[in-house]
Amino acid sequence: MHSLKEILSFQPDGRTLTASGWVRTKRDGKNVCFIALNDGSCMSNLQVVVDKENGSVPAETLARCGTGAALTVTGKLLPSEGGGQEAELRADSVTVLGDTSEAYPLQKKHHSVEFLREIAHLRARTNTFAAVARIRSAMSYAIHTFFQQNGFFYVHTPIITANDCEGAGQMFQVTTLDLDAVAKKALPEGIDYSQDFFGKKANLTVSGQLSAETYACALSRVYTFGPTFRAENSNTTRHLAEFWMIEPEIAFCDLEGNMEIAEAFIKFILKYVLENCREDMEFFDARIQKGVIETIRQVIEKPFVRITYTEAVGELEKAAASFEFKPVWGCDLQTEHEKYLTEKVFNGPVIVTDYPKEIKAFYMKQNDDGKTVRAMDILVPRLGEIIGGSERESDFGKLTARMKELGLNEKDYDWYLDLRRFGTVAHSGFGLGFERLILYVTGMANIRDVIPYPRTVKNAEF
Ligand code: 4AD
Ligand code: MG
Repeated sequence: MHSLKEILSFQPDGRTLTASGWVRTKRDGKNVCFIALNDGSCMSNLQVVVDKENGSVPAETLARCGTGAALTVTGKLLPSEGGGQEAELRADSVTVLGDTSEAYPLQKKHHSVEFLREIAHLRARTNTFAAVARIRSAMSYAIHTFFQQNGFFYVHTPIITANDCEGAGQMFQVTTLDLDAVAKKALPEGIDYSQDFFGKKANLTVSGQLSAETYACALSRVYTFGPTFRAENSNTTRHLAEFWMIEPEIAFCDLEGNMEIAEAFIKFILKYVLENCREDMEFFDARIQKGVIETIRQVIEKPFVRITYTEAVGELEKAAASFEFKPVWGCDLQTEHEKYLTEKVFNGPVIVTDYPKEIKAFYMKQNDDGKTVRAMDILVPRLGEIIGGSERESDFGKLTARMKELGLNEKDYDWYLDLRRFGTVAHSGFGLGFERLILYVTGMANIRDVIPYPRTVKNAEF
């Protein structure tokens, strides 16, 4: 059997074939009935035409073909007599595989994204969410393609870990302890984690980076691509508690090399989507964000702007009056600052480097000025940060000194420090938030709408 995508690519030469899908709409004429069938393989529907007079499809069957019903139709593929599509399937027989009813929530009318979030188990049956799902799949494939073509090995880093890569304490704890029982005992001495499943406190990973570094210092070029978890109490359109991150890690590579790879990587994905997801991108361009295709084209053409954090703060100070949060050297850039830089000053992606060490993680390579680190964030219009990365501190002494300053226990990171004890080497990497890149590519407004089942503060439905 052929997918509707295949069928719609065939010459409408009268061949007989069978198509399956779900009814999007049914329109009854006097002598004919039009059924728009969709199977999700592409955006377009197949128009099925049923002759009501020749008796090929009983009236009782046709009555069951309402919006949402699952059908198999056998008929002849012919040039369409009506406008709007090239081919139509003139039905010889229709079988209802699964009935529907008036209670089906996706009756033909406009539904808000907020409403569709409440029926997330059905929303992939709408044009928008099916297109997002197809683009997400295509982008995943492009990500693996980019790395595999460039000599990177895919490494599966653990989901459950005992460390906090970013040191921000935003972890979900993983335990098999009976918390109710523990609470009832109200232990003044605290919980005895030696009794827990792993014999110590464990959590869901916030980043695969530290493990990826160990493999980069063996295979030279590696990447991870998997779910990561952050218990951040951020109720925004850009934060999820569970999101997917792509993290390459490259040995014998400094910050310059890291930025080059990150830029080439983003451009590769954008180009892949434009070339391979045309129908869906045209939909986003027409219905979700006007001009998104042209924006992406321009991003592919132009080199990304590169500025230091200090220069960025200089730019922001010129417009200080327009911000809610005053730009001050030493403070993290706020989203409003990132948007200003990308939208007002540079009109495109910007790579900001050399942030103050106080606002970045312990593992970043320290600059000679004693104040900044070899970090790089990539910021884009509309969203702000989509990539965070750095060259890693490869000097044992400097790294352990920084860990001490931050109160990190060296013992916990002993295996990580081994990389600096044995054959240490310059290495760099970054993390790309997958859902943020999907937002950027599709023009969708809310991160909850580019992952099938979003997990956010107070929400783990479905
Ligand atoms: O800047 P972050 O925290 O960097 C790291 O985790 C590094 N260990 C990455 C590395 O160097 N290997 O996160 C990286 C990216 C961010 O730029 C953002 O795009 C995304 O992950 N991100 C989130 N996306 C959705 N929801 C959240 N709560 C996110 N937190 C970070
Ligand atoms: Mg970051």
